[in-house]
Amino acid sequence: MIAIGSDHAGYGLKQTVIQHLEDLGIAFNDYGTYSSMSCDYPDFAEAVCQAVMKGQADKGILICGTGIGMSMAANRHKEIRAALCDNCYSAKATREHNDANVLCMGARVLGEGLALQIVDTFLETEFSNGANHVRRIGKMS
Ligand code: RB5
Repeated sequence: MIAIGSDHAGYGLKQTVIQHLEDLGIAFNDYGTYSSMSCDYPDFAEAVCQAVMKGQADKGILICGTGIGMSMAANRHKEIRAALCDNCYSAKATREHNDANVLCMGARVLGEGLALQIVDTFLETEFSNGANHVRRIGKMS
């Protein structure tokens, strides 16, 4: 299960990602926002992070204009490892090395095609479980 959320700036890309998840048959819950009316990104970061922390979702996807505000808000939670990605290399590496559980993207930064490839890479890539990576993640919590 994927928890997805955005602010107004990320709304259009969120709808595109949702359509993509539906096409792939990947289950998701949409935590809003539900229109392009101006709103506050921390509210949606909080909803998605709560879903991940409560085990209601395996991973989260958060989208705002830059992805930066969402990643700042998400990473205030001890159990959340949110990665702001603008390329597929980072999306793969952050899953393998950081066991990132939330993907953040900037709708004003990325084209839709690249954004969907980043989503696919993030969701398909497993954590390496390497002892060095487990140790480093442990030092963050
Ligand atoms: C909204 O204008 C914009 O500030 C927000 O989407 C995000 O980019 C903040 O980090």
